[in-house]
Amino acid sequence: MRCFVYRFPFSGSLSLKSLKKGNIPQHVAIIMDGNGRWATRRKLPRSIGHQRGAEVLRETVVTCKDLGVKYLTAYSFSSENWQRPAEEVKDLMKLFIEVLQRELDGMIENDVKLNLIGQREIIPEKILRVFENAEEKTKFNKSLVFSIAFSYGSKQEIFDAVKKICIDYDRSEIDIETAKPEMLSGYLYTAGLPDPDLLIRTGGESRISNFLLWQIAYTELYFTDIMWPDFNRKNFFKAISSFQKRNRRFGRL
Ligand code: IPE
Ligand code: IPE
Ligand code: MG
Repeated sequence: MRCFVYRFPFSGSLSLKSLKKGNIPQHVAIIMDGNGRWATRRKLPRSIGHQRGAEVLRETVVTCKDLGVKYLTAYSFSSENWQRPAEEVKDLMKLFIEVLQRELDGMIENDVKLNLIGQREIIPEKILRVFENAEEKTKFNKSLVFSIAFSYGSKQEIFDAVKKICIDYDRSEIDIETAKPEMLSGYLYTAGLPDPDLLIRTGGESRISNFLLWQIAYTELYFTDIMWPDFNRKNFFKAISSFQKRNRRFGRL
């Protein structure tokens, strides 16, 4: 259990026990932003921020399991992030491979199912193999479905879904007269996952940056200035506590 052992700082009145008495979101999605700025402020290379960010993600997986969150979806690399300087992209790819390989045993032991959501066709072969190996080795796990959005862009996802729908329509596999909007959900990379109940964005920006546009129609949003590498268990508890105070009406009274 080496990979998942971590001592958490004291979390004040927001304890696991008190939160578990309330409504725990079934699906939490996170835009893990602020790694680079966290590092730059400390006069460290941005890559150190990404490394620390990967550790915080591991802690977050443990916290989700402890709380009873069933689905965690983490935005780790967007379609647009391919346009970053080649050196940063290279460092990030190296980190993804290292972290996925290092954490695989821990995910297996902790009954975590790994799921890649993103544009697989453009993911470099070497990284895709590591992701797909982790998916294969964890495919029967049930405690937590941990989706990593990598090379992910929501507009591309929706566009790909529409193309697949057109193909199935041509093959007479779809009756367009009786089709419902939910049909489209089944064509997204997230097919089979419930929509997120809570979306957290760290790093101070109040935007969605092309993440799960279709899926977050009725998701509760939580924005925080805390940079992702500082987003510890206590901060996660605060987000859950905020969610527990929301009144979700879904358009009804
Ligand atoms: C998020 O942190 C991680 C990725 C997008 C890969 P950033 O790298 O965007 O960090 P900031 O926003 O520049 O601080
Ligand atoms: C969003 O962060 C993507 C990830 C966290 C992986 P960005 O840093 O890429 O978003 P923008 O550029 O500030 O919108
Ligand atoms: Mg950013």
